[in-house]
Parts: sequence; C-alpha cells; structure tokens
Amino acid sequence: MSLIENVKIKARADIKKIVLPEGDEIRTVKAASIIRDEKIAVPVLIGDPSKVEATAKEAGADISGIEIIDPLTSEKAEGYASALYEIRKNKGVTEEDAKNIVKDPMYFGIMMVKTGDADGLVSGAVHSTGDMLRPALQIIKTAPGTKVVSSCFLMDGLKEDIGHNGLLVYADCVVMPCPTAEELAHIAVSAAGTAKKLCGIEEPKVALLSFSTKGSAKHELVNKVAEAVEIAHTLAPDLELDGEMQFDAAIIPEIGASKAKGSSVAGHANVLVFPDLQAGNIGYKITQRLTGCDAVAVLQGLDKPCNDLSRGCSVEDIVATVALTAVQAQ
Ligand code: ACO
Repeated sequence: MSLIENVKIKARADIKKIVLPEGDEIRTVKAASIIRDEKIAVPVLIGDPSKVEATAKEAGADISGIEIIDPLTSEKAEGYASALYEIRKNKGVTEEDAKNIVKDPMYFGIMMVKTGDADGLVSGAVHSTGDMLRPALQIIKTAPGTKVVSSCFLMDGLKEDIGHNGLLVYADCVVMPCPTAEELAHIAVSAAGTAKKLCGIEEPKVALLSFSTKGSAKHELVNKVAEAVEIAHTLAPDLELDGEMQFDAAIIPEIGASKAKGSSVAGHANVLVFPDLQAGNIGYKITQRLTGCDAVAVLQGLDKPCNDLSRGCSVEDIVATVALTAVQAQ
C-alpha cells in the first residue's frame, strides 16, 4: 500500500476539519468534494459563496453540505481581527490594519486554525510558497521546543531496498534558504518526528548530508554540518542520527560500511537532511524526475499544521495534502 493510502486510512480514524482558503479555485472544489465523499476530513472552503458555487458548477463538483465561509461577511471576522491585532501589534499592525488583513482568505483561514475553529490548512494552488508561508510563520508560529519551521518531502515508490521499504524523507526542500548549524539540527530532529508520525517509520535513521563523509574533506561548509550533528545529539540524545556524510554513504550499505565504519545510520538512512535549501530543493526534484517516485511536501515545526501546495498541483495532490495535514493535526 502506498504512503498516501496509509495516511488516508489514518485520517479517517479521527476526522479533522481542514480549511482550504482558495475556495474558488477549480482543483480545490473538486478536491473538497472527494475529501467529503471519502471521509478524509471535513473540508471548509473560504471565498465568496456565489463564486465558489459557480466554480463548483463549472468543475462538475458536488459541494453540497460543504461549509463555505466568506471573510467579508463572516461574524467571526471581528474576533479574528482582534486576535490578529494582539499577535502582530508589536510589529506595527494597527487595529484598522488587522480588520483589513483578515478579509484576505489566506489570513482568515490561518486565524481559523490559530483560534481552533479549524484543525489545519492547505493552500498554495494559487498562492506562491512565500505568500502561503508568511502568514503561517507570523501567526501560527513555531511549536514549543522547535526553533524553526521547515519542511519534508516524502519520497515514496523508490527501489524497495532504499530507505524504509522504498520511502525516503528529505528535509528541508522548501523553507529555510541558508540554515545555521543550530537550525539544521532542529530541521533534522523535526524530520525524524515527521517520519514517525506520517510515514510510520518507528526508528528513523537520520543522515546529515554533505560532500564529505566523516572528515574526508575539510571546508567550513562541512564543519557546519558536523556541528549540526553535535547539536542534534544534544537535542535528541536517543535519536539515531549521524553525519556529515555523502548521499551514497547514507543510503548504500556497502558504501556506508566502508566510508563511515561503525555508524548504524550510514548505508541505512531513511531521513536525509540537506545542508541548505538549494541542495534540498534540487535534490528532491532530481529524485522525483529521474525515478518517477511520488513526492509530497509537508511543513514541520509549526504549532498547528498548515501545508503548501505546488501551483502545478493536481486534484489528487490536494486530497493527499489534506490527508497528511489531518494526520498531523491528530
Ligand atoms: N521558522 C520560523 N519562523 C520563521 C522562519 C522559519 N523558518 N522564517 C521566517 N520566520 C518568521 C520571522 O521570524 C518573521 O517573524 P515575525 O514577523 O514575527 O518577526 C516572519 O516569519 C516573517 O519573516 P521574514 O523574514 O520577514 O519573511 P520572509 O519574507 O523572509 O519569508 C520565507 C520567509 C517565506 C520562509 C522565506 O524564507 C522564503 O521565501 N523561503 C523560500 C521559499 C521558497 O521559495 N521555496 C522554494 C520553492 S517551494 C518548492 O519548490 C516546492
């Protein structure tokens, strides 16, 4: 069974309310209809109801029974504006600004999640990654014990002998352009948590990647990864985590055994942490395009789950991301 099929089963076991701020977008209404029919979550569409209904009609999607909320007329808007003002007043946001900000469906949806009126949010079929991320970072903020919000790509359908039965977790491929050693350590620990929660990997084996394995090359970039390994060990002493190591040393047992003798992670890693966003983003796209594997992204480290879609996403991608978000919310 694929990762997403498993995640859908988990989502159905404890149904969560997931808000979709791009309610008048054609793939989103189709996805909402499937999510309701398959009982993956309770979807809520944000937007002008007449536009949402017209989009659904055009899409041939039955959205009857799905809640549609218009931020311009919602009775919740005032309370959300007050809450947003309290959160952002020290950043120069006035009460008047806050009233205007919550008229934006993206911010309205984020306030639903912040206040507990929804359990999670999925957006990005229309918004860019930055425009989706910023409200979540500003308002939902990081979970206790985590210093950074980052991401994982769940790479499913690789060769069976790679990672966890053909599944690898890649971090961070979306959020942090240039993490410090401390931030990299937090990304690694969060990624292990994501691997457990969403992928059923009971014992994550986390490799921090570099162009060097255990001191084979000397460079300040290598030092940063080695330092991150040290910090991660103090953050999560029981986690199987090692580095710095090259990609082949991380996933190929014979190479891991020869380049990183005695490491229980080398050769058997199922969570791969890239040293920066350029490497991570390029790395996941190379893997996806050359192997044809499934690649689905989730954010990690947020206090409540919000996830980003690619603007090129399919209806099935939205359904899958909602299922993942619902499980994160459990
Ligand atoms: N974790 C926690 N908080 C953060 C993080 C983070 N990683 N990054 C920013 N913040 C906080 C800031 O502290 C700030 O909080 P404050 O306003 O309360 O003080 C708030 O978020 C906004 O931060 P800024 O630095 O002003 O936001 P910025 O404009 O730099 O945007 C962003 C942050 C959007 C994450 C930026 O780093 C970015 O654009 N990242 C790359 C996104 C991207 O393009 N990814 C690749 C494409 S996606 C794909 O291919 C699938």
